[in-house]
Amino acid sequence: MVVPGGRDEPARGPRRGSRRALPGGAVTFVFTDIEGSTRLVKALRERYAQVLAGHRRLVRAAVAACGGHEVDTQGDAFFAVFASARQAVLCALEIQRALAARDWPGGAEVRVRIGVHTGQAVPAGGGYTGLAVHRAARICAAARGGQVLVSQPTRDLIEDEEEGEGLGFALVDAGEHQLKDLDRPVRLFQLAAAGLDPGSSRAGWMAGGSAAGGVHGFAAVRTSFVGRAGPARELAVLLGQHQLVTVTGPGGSGKTRLACEVAGQVAGRFADGVWLVELAPVQDPGQVAVVVAAALGVREQPGVPAAGTLARVLARQQLLVVLDNCEHVLGAAAGLCAELVAACDDLRVLATSREALRVAGEARYRLGPLAVPDPGDLADAVTAEAVVLFADRARQADAHFTLDDRTGPEVARLVARLDGMPLAIELAAARAEALGLGQLLGRLEDRFALLAGGDRLAPPRQRSLAAAVEWSYQLLDEPERRAFRAVSVFPGPFTLDGAEAVAGTGAVLAVLRLVDCSLLVPPRTGPDGQPRYVMLETLRAYGARLRAEAGEPDTAAAALAGYALRVAEEAAAGLQSRVGEVAAARWLDAEDATVRHVLAWAIARDAALAVRLADALVWWWLLRGRLAGQYRLLSEVAGRAEPGSEGWYIIQCWLGWAANFAADAAGALDHFGAVRDAVADHGPSRVLVDALNGRSVVLLNMGRLAEGAEDARRSLATARELGYLAGEGLALNALATTVQQSGDNDGAIQLIRQQQLITGMPGTIARSGYQVVIVALSEAGDLAGAGSACTAALAWCRNTGDLFNLPWMLMAMADLDVRAGRFQDAAAHLRDGLQIVMRTGDVWHVGNGLSSCGWLCAATGRYAEAATLRAAEAVHFRQQGIAGWSPGEARREEAALAKIRQALGPARFRAAEERGAAMSLDTAAEYALMLTAPAPEPAAAGSGLGGLSARERELVTLVAQGRTNAQIAAQLYISVRTVGSHLDRIRDKTGARRRADLTRLALAEGLV
Ligand SMILES: Nc1ncnc2c1ncn2[C@@H]1O[C@H](COP(=O)(O)OP(=O)(O)O)[C@@H](O)[C@H]1O
Ligand SMILES: [Mg+2]
Repeated sequence: MVVPGGRDEPARGPRRGSRRALPGGAVTFVFTDIEGSTRLVKALRERYAQVLAGHRRLVRAAVAACGGHEVDTQGDAFFAVFASARQAVLCALEIQRALAARDWPGGAEVRVRIGVHTGQAVPAGGGYTGLAVHRAARICAAARGGQVLVSQPTRDLIEDEEEGEGLGFALVDAGEHQLKDLDRPVRLFQLAAAGLDPGSSRAGWMAGGSAAGGVHGFAAVRTSFVGRAGPARELAVLLGQHQLVTVTGPGGSGKTRLACEVAGQVAGRFADGVWLVELAPVQDPGQVAVVVAAALGVREQPGVPAAGTLARVLARQQLLVVLDNCEHVLGAAAGLCAELVAACDDLRVLATSREALRVAGEARYRLGPLAVPDPGDLADAVTAEAVVLFADRARQADAHFTLDDRTGPEVARLVARLDGMPLAIELAAARAEALGLGQLLGRLEDRFALLAGGDRLAPPRQRSLAAAVEWSYQLLDEPERRAFRAVSVFPGPFTLDGAEAVAGTGAVLAVLRLVDCSLLVPPRTGPDGQPRYVMLETLRAYGARLRAEAGEPDTAAAALAGYALRVAEEAAAGLQSRVGEVAAARWLDAEDATVRHVLAWAIARDAALAVRLADALVWWWLLRGRLAGQYRLLSEVAGRAEPGSEGWYIIQCWLGWAANFAADAAGALDHFGAVRDAVADHGPSRVLVDALNGRSVVLLNMGRLAEGAEDARRSLATARELGYLAGEGLALNALATTVQQSGDNDGAIQLIRQQQLITGMPGTIARSGYQVVIVALSEAGDLAGAGSACTAALAWCRNTGDLFNLPWMLMAMADLDVRAGRFQDAAAHLRDGLQIVMRTGDVWHVGNGLSSCGWLCAATGRYAEAATLRAAEAVHFRQQGIAGWSPGEARREEAALAKIRQALGPARFRAAEERGAAMSLDTAAEYALMLTAPAPEPAAAGSGLGGLSARERELVTLVAQGRTNAQIAAQLYISVRTVGSHLDRIRDKTGARRRADLTRLALAEGLV
């Protein structure tokens, strides 16, 4: 990017029209820059100018709205200055929100990186001089697209200025960064706010392909964090020593809040980031691993349980997973943690739970209450954590609330009475204005007296919380109580629309009131951009109890079920329309917890509802790469449906698809065949079309071309007769594939052209249609045409977060680049694709990546590498019978092989092949990543392995071969702890942090 101004030369003049004088002294700089603009130019061509102009307008409007001055603009980079640090950060936030809300031409994704820094600078010649300008530009360069990084001086200034006020954003510790041209690493903070969560939308970051470091899935917090310095420090230390740390304590004691805070503080230690996984909405222990995989963006793999795929993918990563609310699925959470911890040495889990998980090696941290004032020494009361929390929350309700000689002692007594329980304190503080402190204390005392009689066995902290909850609830009027009970049925975040659906029209006012009373968390923006409310788990449990006692559970649950079905069916319709697809998919992402909960509820109680709901959700599952993992759930739905009913047929077809994606071709044929046999004689029907389509695709996969074509033709005719558009789209796809595979490229393209005219079919089918076109065009020799088709499809896949088609497109693009001699582009696409499939655990496409990389190496004269990759691919795929080559590919392979053999001679060829055959799949993938790196990688370029002892080199070799610390310890007859400390030393010496980095170092030095 362009850096105007700087140490010596003044920056260029301001844009014409800006007449205000530039501020001087300590000012805050904002630098912005479009990520991957070169690629965007290539993809968009003439439309890029339009995108650039739109982006400029948007940035300028944000700078002006936040009172900033534009200093310079060059290309896609902006440089602005602000007198106030807070306004500068708000401007950055505004820019990101405006960018995210915008639809760009050609479905392009415009991701902007932003750096913010405060320092002394001198206005000169319409620009600025000073080191601070340089540093701000460097911070910008360190950010990923969509991310805002803020320097420590800026953050400190904002914290001082805004003490205790609701900022509307948070600055989360993003760890230390080594910026170019600076000697020492600097600590940076990542902006987190509603509507801005770079990387937290799993489909978003995977499709965007940006690095996975940073924080993911944590909602922006709008309230201040109080005290807990000691526990935070102790937890940070424990996380350095133990792989699993569990924070335990009663509900409402602040476990989740503390865990999230600690996660933010230690994020810089984890090259692959920190991830929040919320287990509260998960009822079925069997879904725990599935939910964790979905949150981490790990795709379910054919025939492998989700836990197994997670273990494989996370084994080379360095990351922290916060597993929140484990208590109700304790056994499953414990089992998963045990499996992951054993397989992944650099994984840390920070769990919150009422009870410990009881996994070997777990460190349990019992979270105590907030510090309450010493009754004998009220002088220090105002600094006690519990008092600070109360005062802060009371000020939210009443801006005039202050702690003084009168209120101080009262608050001190109150928080002591509440046993320092944060949730109880928040509930009480929310009523401080309405009741006054005296009354508040009196009424709470009454409630305590009542409750203490009821349950003497419960520990005091739980009793005090229960009293506060009940007291707060009793203060509501009847409509508000009804709304509280009703919305407590939501397992996760909900919209006002949702609240009205379960609590009746007019619930909106009650919801707002519940927020005021701290019975609901203030709204946060979900993946679809809609604000959503959340009820803390402790309060939800109380609501459920009240519903049970009031005999209401069925009405609220039934209303929730009706609501979930409406959401799912409207979204399903959106997924079938071109314009509504993105919004519909994000809507379901946001309602994930609710639809999952209702599906489980329906399976137990209402078979017809379960069938309709599952049928509405499948396209979304497919889009997000989650269909294969739903086989068990779909089987349960099928088990509840009347055999031979319409619903049963529908679910059988979906079971067929799930089996197909789980690589169970025979199982898939059984499901589709059963439906076809049952309905074939009853005239045309949608389920007949679905069954025939499914069969034809599976048959084609099995190489039974003629039979597949026959079913596709029948299905096409039936779909047309019925006007069943989605069925017609899929049939055309299947037919085009058979036509292409039998050598008629033009015919295949014609069929897909017809298909693309259908507007009412899921985008996933249309994008799969592109696959056929790309293959047909390139087999026909039209590489340019195939390239444009692939570019368009790739942008579309990224835009929709289509994990089903995206990896295929990336590998295809890389291959087209190789054929066209665009070797640098090929390497970039390959790398991009490999990084995505390694993070999502998509084994199949790792195989494709290895062959593409082999062809790239062969084309660029790296024959030994080509032979190595080819051998690795053969061992893990072709020799396993997992994947083969099409006739075209096989011919290409023969030619490449001959060239490689000749160039290397027999001995070197054999050595290169042996090297590849000995590589594990993941090592081979790292090898391909190394070979496609644009420049020598920082780790490899640094000290390399030169400074290591022979023992240390041996250890690196074993790591590169994919061994865990325990396996290495066993092999070398040393303790696991010794292996750990050796590795720490190796990391210090080499600068390589992740096992993946160590692997590439070892590969670069030929150790594996
Ligand atoms: N140290 C703290 N500073 C500010 N608020 C806190 C703190 N600890 C807890 N809270 C607030 O108290 C409430 C309950 O905390 P939470 O973390 O949800 O409890 P738990 O997970 O133990 O059930 C939340 O609203 C939370 O934001
Ligand atoms: Mg919690």
